[in-house]
Amino acid sequence: MKSTDVPATVFILDFGAQYSQLIARRTREAHVYCEIVPHDTPWEALAARSPAAIILTGGPESVLVPDAPEMDPALLSSGVPVLGICYGMQLLARDLKAPLVKLERREYGPAELRVERPESPLFAGVSARSRVWMSHGDSVLEPPPGFTAIASTDRCNIAAIGDDARRIYGTQFHPEVVQTQYGKQILDNFLHRIAQIGDQWRMESFVDRAIADIRAQVGGAKVICALSGGVDSAVAATLVSRAVGEQLSCIFVDNGLLRKNEARSVVEAFKDVMHLNVIAVDARERFLERLAGVIDPEEKRIRIGHEFITIFEEQAAKIPDVKFLVQGTLYPDVIESKTPQSKAGHKIKSHHNVGGLPEGMLLELVEPLRSLFKDEVRAVGRVLGLPPQIVERQPFPGPGLAVRVLGAVSEERLTTLREADAIVRDEIEGEPLHPKPWQYFAVLTPLLSVGVMGDGRTYANLVAVRAITSEDGMTADWARLPQSLLERISSRIVNEVPGVNRVAYDITSKPPSTVEWE
Ligand code: XMP
Repeated sequence: MKSTDVPATVFILDFGAQYSQLIARRTREAHVYCEIVPHDTPWEALAARSPAAIILTGGPESVLVPDAPEMDPALLSSGVPVLGICYGMQLLARDLKAPLVKLERREYGPAELRVERPESPLFAGVSARSRVWMSHGDSVLEPPPGFTAIASTDRCNIAAIGDDARRIYGTQFHPEVVQTQYGKQILDNFLHRIAQIGDQWRMESFVDRAIADIRAQVGGAKVICALSGGVDSAVAATLVSRAVGEQLSCIFVDNGLLRKNEARSVVEAFKDVMHLNVIAVDARERFLERLAGVIDPEEKRIRIGHEFITIFEEQAAKIPDVKFLVQGTLYPDVIESKTPQSKAGHKIKSHHNVGGLPEGMLLELVEPLRSLFKDEVRAVGRVLGLPPQIVERQPFPGPGLAVRVLGAVSEERLTTLREADAIVRDEIEGEPLHPKPWQYFAVLTPLLSVGVMGDGRTYANLVAVRAITSEDGMTADWARLPQSLLERISSRIVNEVPGVNRVAYDITSKPPSTVEWE
């Protein structure tokens, strides 16, 4: 599909659900293009874009209170297929004159769904009984006129409703969450079987659209971007560079806290593979000076953040007439910081944080990844042809190895850690592991212990090895690495890294531990 083609568009009416972007993501996974819009968008505005289907999200409110968020009821008589999820189902039921009741006790958590009407197209391919995820405080008592109840659970007689003639459906449960066993099938049924939308959207289409949007936002102005070596800033910068070419200047600050050979290899990738216009600043000495003698991890983080901003400002000041700043903000960052959904750039004046903004500079943000999840960003990176060392890069703390050298940071201790870490990575990457650990690295502890090497007694450093399995870093388990692999890692580290005579493997999960030791 070319960028000028208009794909079949699904509008997701957002009633303030925690899961709105997850619905969007599942829609994209079904290869359908979608946009999230405010719940009260007038029907004429949607009709002008010829929607292929409409999804109503859940929301924190009750439809039974007087100022409950509303939708334009015209959309229910428009003939466009509608799927209401949770609050969305209750709202469409209420607007179509079904009775509702407030539950005495909220239903929250897993439930067993019983399909009452297996002939409903919404449940094609769905088992008669399956697990779903519920979260609601109100319930539909009877289906609206013209509808039938098509599924139930123990606590909820009407867990789904449908009117095949009007192609309007509602589910009390959440099909978008992984805890709903057939959630993907149910959404696929709605999009493909009921709304008859083809399999037509791909990450390539996201790239085309993002590039067109960036061009429209930026026009002929100059743009800057801070590259960290991570996948988010690299993908965001590459999109902007494809959109506006030489108008973009990227700044990469080598803080001396990256892993072995990493600074050189990312700068090469930025220049030679991604063809970015990069100013690489060697600031290794400056960061070491700022960190000299600092032991407290928070203090390290603060000093690194400030130094980064100082250097970024110095460099940015050399580029005249900059109007825009690219940031690789992802959807989870948007939720965490609760910043408003971006439409043509809100202006910000900022004073903190990595990837952060020069103090006192008034720049408009370009955030092409704001609606995506991490793995979708990696998929965009692959479409853009970014090299694996960037696309597959493990999560890495902004303050880099400074938080993995416990205690005072010095060039000597950084070198020890880098060598040990390179062995951990080399050995783990050489082993076909299932599942592959999500993150793995070495930590240089501030402990010295006694050992014996050759004929001599040693008193040297303890290196800890951390390897975890995780979905998202929020919780994690220690990886059950094969003993032979651990043995090779340990023996190589003590033999090849001067100043290390002992290796320990971290066998704590998160919680109660964290991933980084700091
Ligand atoms: P913790 O140690 O909090 O780490 O369990 C959870 C995940 O976050 C990564 N991490 C960071 N990522 N900037 C980042 O982008 C940071 O400052 C930072 N600190 C920790 C950590 O590596 C793990 O994957």
